[in-house]
Amino acid sequence: MKIAIAADHAGFNLKQSVSQRLEAGGHSVSDMGTNSANSCDYPTYAVEVSRAVSSGEAERGILVCGTGLGMCIAANKIRGIRAVGPCDPVQAEMSRRHNDANVLCLGERMMGADLVFKIVDVWLATPFEGGRHARRLELISELEEK
Ligand code: RB5
Repeated sequence: MKIAIAADHAGFNLKQSVSQRLEAGGHSVSDMGTNSANSCDYPTYAVEVSRAVSSGEAERGILVCGTGLGMCIAANKIRGIRAVGPCDPVQAEMSRRHNDANVLCLGERMMGADLVFKIVDVWLATPFEGGRHARRLELISELEEK
């Protein structure tokens, strides 16, 4: 899968390990920064990844900051983005089945790598169910400003 990934300084280390693991798993990963633990502003990176997903350049996006929260707020400002920050693999699975989430937000300061990897794996592997859920996503799309 083509995956765009980025982080701010607080998510840099986790971004590196998630990215390496995705590449080892055969995914095509586009790393959009940041490239060090020097302080930077998460919205800049959220927008880069979200635009790559909304344009179709990437199939999915992954964003990492300290909590996952700021990235999620910023990503959801971009048309067509359904960003989520699941706490566990069940939420990750349901965000795909029912919400067709296309950007996954993670908090490096919130959970250990083992849990993060489980969340990433299930989130990437789970399909969207469509049907009545597609109708609901259409209603969400109608909320986006023209
Ligand atoms: C940076 O200190 C921190 O605020 C940021 O990584 C993120 O957690 C914001 O939501």
